[in-house]
Amino acid sequence: MRLVLFGPPGAGKGTQAAAIKDKFGIPHISTGEILREAIAAGTPVGVRAKAVVESGSLVPDEVVGELVALRLARSDARRGFLLDGFPRTLRQAEILEVVLKARKEPLDAVVKVNLNDDEVVRRLSGRRTCPSCGASFHVSFSPPKVEGLCDACGGPLRQRDDDREDVIRKRLTVYRDQTAPLASHYAKMGVLKEIEGSGPIEEVKQRILRALGAA
Ligand code: AP5
Repeated sequence: MRLVLFGPPGAGKGTQAAAIKDKFGIPHISTGEILREAIAAGTPVGVRAKAVVESGSLVPDEVVGELVALRLARSDARRGFLLDGFPRTLRQAEILEVVLKARKEPLDAVVKVNLNDDEVVRRLSGRRTCPSCGASFHVSFSPPKVEGLCDACGGPLRQRDDDREDVIRKRLTVYRDQTAPLASHYAKMGVLKEIEGSGPIEEVKQRILRALGAA
């Protein structure tokens, strides 16, 4: 199964990706995670990306496109993949199409998760993530068992630098201007599935699986 998950920041892409990847036995490839790892490791890409990510803007298309092409070339992505946060512009969609055309592997589905702005701000301002293992929590909606500590690895949780309200609003504007137009692009290709992202995590998961014919 070759999938793309897209939607506004905080729509629950990362949360849902964890369940979907297990269901289909495919790797979850998040460009946000790849960039945060590069920033933490201080690689040349990370050094270039740091200020861009923290401001809520987009890292240049060719930089992210190359990271994704390299990741898709790894052996675990031969049986399929779940892309989260990529493509984010029409140029990135073209880059992905070139890579997949060379592999003769078209996308099976593009799932767009919709969520209103107020809920986005509520979710992201309460999000806490584990820098060690990547697990994600919410102070009210899915709190860790012990406040401030990761359930999975016990590491300290932190708030992402781009989860401040002013940066969240900027990310929403960037999403509307540059990413939302991808919906009509994928609708024309006949692969778009739209679902509502509000409601309990399990319900959203079932909506996605139903849209993929896998419930
Ligand atoms: P990225 O990491 O991709 O961020 P994003 O798209 O803004 O998405 P988020 O990770 O913020 O949200 P999510 O939808 O995964 O929600 P989550 O499941 O965590 O990108 C970050 C930055 O990197 C970008 O701004 C850009 O600078 C750069 N970048 C990345 N990709 C790029 C690209 N392709 N091109 C250029 N630049 C790129 O959920 C959020 C919270 O809500 C959590 O606390 C969760 O527990 C909670 N929650 C989830 N579902 C529910 C529910 N149903 N009910 C209640 N709470 C819920």
